[in-house]
This record gives sequence, structure tokens and C-alpha cells, in this order.
Amino acid sequence: MTRVWKKSDWRAKPRVQMPDYPDSAALEAVEARLSKYPPLVFAGESRKLRAELAKAARGEAFLLQGGDCAESFAEFSADAIRETFKVMLQMAVVLTYGAKVPVVKVGRMAGQFAKPRSAPTEAKGGVELPSYRGDIINELEFTSEARIPNPEKMLQAYTQAAASLNLLRAFSTGGFADIHRVHSWTTGFAEADKAERYRELSNRISDALSFMSAAGLNSDRIATMSTVDFYTSHEALLLEYEEALTRVDSTTGQTIAGSGHMLWIGDRTRQPDGAHVEFCRGVINPIGLKCGPSMTTEDLKVLMAKLNPENEAGRLTLISRFGAGKVGEHLPRLIETVREEGANVVWVCDPMHGNTIKSATGYKTRPFDRVLGEVREFFAVHREQGTVPGGVHFEMTGQDVTECTGGVREVTEEDLSDRYHTACDPRLNASQSLELAFLVAEELSNRREEARAAI
Ligand code: PEP
Ligand code: CO
Repeated sequence: MTRVWKKSDWRAKPRVQMPDYPDSAALEAVEARLSKYPPLVFAGESRKLRAELAKAARGEAFLLQGGDCAESFAEFSADAIRETFKVMLQMAVVLTYGAKVPVVKVGRMAGQFAKPRSAPTEAKGGVELPSYRGDIINELEFTSEARIPNPEKMLQAYTQAAASLNLLRAFSTGGFADIHRVHSWTTGFAEADKAERYRELSNRISDALSFMSAAGLNSDRIATMSTVDFYTSHEALLLEYEEALTRVDSTTGQTIAGSGHMLWIGDRTRQPDGAHVEFCRGVINPIGLKCGPSMTTEDLKVLMAKLNPENEAGRLTLISRFGAGKVGEHLPRLIETVREEGANVVWVCDPMHGNTIKSATGYKTRPFDRVLGEVREFFAVHREQGTVPGGVHFEMTGQDVTECTGGVREVTEEDLSDRYHTACDPRLNASQSLELAFLVAEELSNRREEARAAI
């Protein structure tokens, strides 16, 4: 079926959460430049990711998606990228052990710059200014100049994304990702005080690796032990940037968003007749769709039909983000809709965006126990419904920040001011991320045991 779609069709649709650029000539000049730049990712890579996600939909793989809420120009460094990549690899090893299936690794990296906001303006000390919308659009600083949308920032975002991806590709294949090295970092975490709960699982992984080495199954013989596939993703929010990086794949004639392997549509921009859905429906990248409490079953039906008309497995990932205590109220009705439609989807849990609170000390934070609580509810509902929990989606960093409270190396509300670096939402730090991976691995391993017992 030839689909009639053009990369600019979104322009005729209602748009929300996008900036109004005051200088349209400057905007057009940037779009013209970007549209000549090389794409950051290639269609074959996105197709490969799609095939891996199709496995996750069937329970033959598990998705780990994670990274910053908002990447920032100021925090950009090789160290920051390396540390987040490193923790994601550690988490992936632990999850692989728990799930006994491959873990598909997708960073919220190399393009996660544009942010939807709950209010269009921000007030401080009697002054009201337009909200900060991410470094690709305007600046965090609270001055009227800093908050003016500047299209030139798209070029800086592109450059940062290209450099990040270049480093990620090098880390993925250059020896850094060797499974023995990755696991040796984790043993340090599990040996620490108060982490005894995780020690047994960590020791079992060490044993499995030692056994494999003894049997001659070494990294120098088996490429998958020393290299990884790592993909990038971000919210497709700033459609001028997305359109300018859209390309036609020369081998298949298909259209791909060249800005990242996977794109998602946010909970605030998923209007079935809106600009964001219109753009995403036409590109072949795997698409994520955030599903918050306000997602109606009717909207979900229309969105699935629009975004995945051929019902291809791996094309559409539903990322639920209801908040701890609310999963039982919303997830079953969405699962029912998917079942009625016979739709192929990957179910993923984002336990971050429904669990943001304001601490007594004034910081936006997320308690570790609530994050874990939502993950557990997600697994419990899938167990009851007989459906597949296909992955998790975290806001996290490899840095030792103090943005979310809790965890074995407990961060208290008083600690939040120590190293609170995020430009947007609070992220799990390295220790909290790894701890969560151990706890998710337990859920996955229980699920396998139950499935075995049921046979
Ligand atoms: C996000 O993922 O950073 C985000 C804003 O999520 P949501 O659209 O689910 O609120
Ligand atoms: Co966020």
C-alpha cells in the first residue's frame, strides 16, 4: 500500500508544546542547513532495533531504555556519556541474568533535548517568563533573553548528538563493553555495605562468567561478549528539527527520521489528530507512545491504527507512566483494548513520570520506593493478564547525583541540594539505577520460575 505522507504534513495540523520562533527567516535558514547534514542513524539500524523490539513484544527480549530527562549543553562531556553508558551496560547484564533473554539497550541520549512543560510560563519573585523548553530551544537561565526560542540551538544540538553517538559507537565495539569488565564494576556495588541483598545474584553472575571462561567461551572468541548494540532515542517534540533530519533510505525508498533510532511521542503531544502523531506515523523508526492516566481507550485505538496500520511487531511500544498506586486502575483497560484490537505492541514501564513530587526542601524529586512500586505493579498486572512485560524506561545518569531520594546508599530530602544537577526531571543516580536493575531482575526471574512451574 502506498501511503500518502509527506514529512512536512504535520505543519497543517494543530501543534502543542512547540516554540513560536520570533525570527522565521533564521528558522528557515537553520532548517535548510540541517536538511543538508548527514543523518545521525541509518535505516538498517532502525530496522534491526525494530526486529529486536518485536522479540521484546513476545517475551524473547527485554528493553532497557534510559538516560537523561533532558540532555544539556553545559553538562556535555565524554565522562558523562561514558558513565551513563557504563551503568546501562551493568544494568543490562543483571537484567539478562534475571530474564534469561537478550536485553535491548536504548539510550535517552544523542537527541533528548526538547521538553514538554506543564505550564507555558514560569513565575519567580513576581516575574513571569516563558518556560524553559530544553537546550535545543531556549536557555534555563531566568532572564527574558535566555527564554527566547533560538533556532541556532538546533545546530548545536545536532553537533552534540553527532559527537555523543560517535563516542557511543566507539564504546560499543572498542573493548569497553566487555562483559567481564562490566560485571567487575557491579561486584563493587554488591560488596558494599547494605547491598547484601544483591550479592547473591551478583555472585551467581560471576560464577556463570567463570564457568564460561573455563569452558573456553571467551570474549576473544565470541563477539557478543565484548561488543554491544546500543541504540539512541528521544522524544520527537521539536518537529522542525525532526523534519530537517528526515531522509529517504536509498535501498528501500522508506522514510526514516535520521535524528535517532527510536522516537517517542510524549503524554502531552499524543493528540490523534495533532502534529506529532502526523509526523511519527510516516517514518519507519520504532515509535514509543507514552500512556498516562488520561489515555482513553478510544484514543489508544485510533493511535494504534494510525501509528501501526500494518500491525507490525516492534513498530509500536506503549510506555505506561501512571504513578505508583494507579497502575491497577489504568493498565488493565489499555491491555484489554490492545487485546480487542489484536494489536502487536511492546509493553514498557516508565516509573518516573507518574512519581514526581516536591520535597519538603523544595526540590522536585522521586522516591526510590515509589519508582520500584510502580515497576512491581506493572509486573503484577501483566502476570494477572497473561501479557508480556517487555521493558523498562528510566530517567537516570551514571553520575553520583542527589536528585531522587532513597536507595541503599540512601539519599535523603536534606541531601537533595548537594548534587542536584538536572535541568529538568530528577534522575536515578548510578547506584540507584543499578539497584533498580537488580530488583527488576528479581521480578523477571520470578516470572520465569512461575512460567516453568505452570508447565
Ligand atoms: C519524558 O519522558 O521526559 C516526559 C516528559 O514524559 P511524559 O511525556 O511521559 O510526561
Ligand atoms: Co522527564
